Amino acid sequence: MTVYSRITGTGSYLPPRRITNADLVADLATRGIETSDDWIVERTGIRARHFADPGVFASDLGLEAARQALQAAGLTPSELDLIIVATSTPDMVFPSTACILQHKLGAAGGAAFDVQAVCSGFVYALTVADAMIRSGAARRALVVGAELFSRLLDFQDRTTCVLFGDGAGAVVLEASEQPGILASDLHADGRHVGILCVPGHVAGGQVLGDPLLKMDGQAVFKLAVGVLEDAARAALDKAGRTPQDIDWLIPHQANIRIIQSTARKLRLPMERVVVTVDQHGNTSAASIPLALDAGVRDGRIRPGQTLLLEGVGGGFTWGAVLLNL
Ligand code: UT7
Repeated sequence: MTVYSRITGTGSYLPPRRITNADLVADLATRGIETSDDWIVERTGIRARHFADPGVFASDLGLEAARQALQAAGLTPSELDLIIVATSTPDMVFPSTACILQHKLGAAGGAAFDVQAVCSGFVYALTVADAMIRSGAARRALVVGAELFSRLLDFQDRTTCVLFGDGAGAVVLEASEQPGILASDLHADGRHVGILCVPGHVAGGQVLGDPLLKMDGQAVFKLAVGVLEDAARAALDKAGRTPQDIDWLIPHQANIRIIQSTARKLRLPMERVVVTVDQHGNTSAASIPLALDAGVRDGRIRPGQTLLLEGVGGGFTWGAVLLNL
């Protein structure tokens, strides 16, 4: 009997502190940085984002999302035999945020590790969990994207600090006789390490380098619009499907213009694209599971539908996952 993996529950969590563009514009003005709601909305589509309070960690956001996903799947934490957390903002240098989350969930014994592929982290983590379930290495997995990008922002750099937010999303993935995940397509090109990075590290008890986010926005934009179409078509080809078979495109939420461009290239109307960037900003590895859960909970995304998830970001990394819900 062929074993597949299938999403059986979704969840998400945003920290309560919502920062509108007006809030951010006012705060930045006190720092001598000029920006405007008009610029942010026109260039990115972002209207608000959420920032976590000090003392809150990625595992805390992940915990809330994980509890919702487990409840939706009808599972208890002790039934999980795999936890993967996609994050670029881990609680500690080590151990992994997945181990910390496992402990906070009150589970023990299953495998737990983090995946670091920045904004592509969730599609990477989902692909790894799918492969482990299909190989028999796991049967019930929790896959989480949890990020606190507010901690990495340079509030003197208006080209980046208006773009990102905090949050978490999660799915439960279980072994199934029915096909769930149909195909994945992952890539990286390390020649572009420098266009989106946080170039700091810990050594000898000090943080060396510059541990704040740097981005060449235009270079990222150009690469993103090209590779997202390629990854989408590659995943569809592997499954013998076409863009017309997609009920919902759930793209990484970085910029509405990138999302619109991908939809246009795939000839998908925006009515079949889940957009949360306006309310969440860019939450890196959390953005896709946050958008997925938003669509599931408001009733747009329903069992039996075909979804295409796709991510792109630092590394440079990108990828897509095609699945039946
Ligand atoms: O999650 C990983 C993936 N990340 C992304 O996908 C991000 C990809 N890049 C982008 O989304 C866009 O490149 C940005 C939103 C970052 C920038 O948009 P853009 O249309 O590429 O703007 P730009 O960098 O060409 O800047 C245009 C102008 C510049 O002024 P001048 O040189 O034309 O006078 C900037 O200095 O906008 C200025 N500018 C701002 N003005 C007001 C840049 N940031 C701001 C700001 N407020 N916050």
